Amino acid sequence: MMMISKNLADAINAQVGREFGASFQYVQIAAYFESEALDGLAKLFYKQSDEERDHAMKLAHYVVETGAQLAIPAVEAPKVTFSSAEEAIQAALNWETEVTRQINNLMDIAVAEKDYLAREFLDWFVVEQLEEVTSMEKLLRIAQRAGERNIIMLEAYLSHGGDED
Ligand code: FEO
Repeated sequence: MMMISKNLADAINAQVGREFGASFQYVQIAAYFESEALDGLAKLFYKQSDEERDHAMKLAHYVVETGAQLAIPAVEAPKVTFSSAEEAIQAALNWETEVTRQINNLMDIAVAEKDYLAREFLDWFVVEQLEEVTSMEKLLRIAQRAGERNIIMLEAYLSHGGDED
């Protein structure tokens, strides 16, 4: 039995592509930090990339389990170059803000369709976005306070577990 509408399955498939896109983008950001010898930031963004892949897989499994067709769309190429740590972190924060909007849109569909299963499933993503946005905001604030010349301070902050969830 199909436990999902075509409409919601299409919207979730699109989100699968965006989460994989985020995973790629965070690899690029991590590589930027690694090339700047900012290993703490690199590690954080490689880990973030893994998390985005997990998000994509959670959504992909849901589409399959509810009996719809998984159809991963073309994934937009990530931004490759960054001129500062602040710019890279700002890009990540902008992304997370956008994802929050996208997840809310999925929830809007689930609510409109009275799809209680999807609402339950999407709740996890709604809560997850609070953490994703606030941790990125915090990182950006610290990067701005340190300034590009003292960005190494951010590494010290991270090495003391400052990014722990
Ligand atoms: Fe998949 Fe960072 O939200």
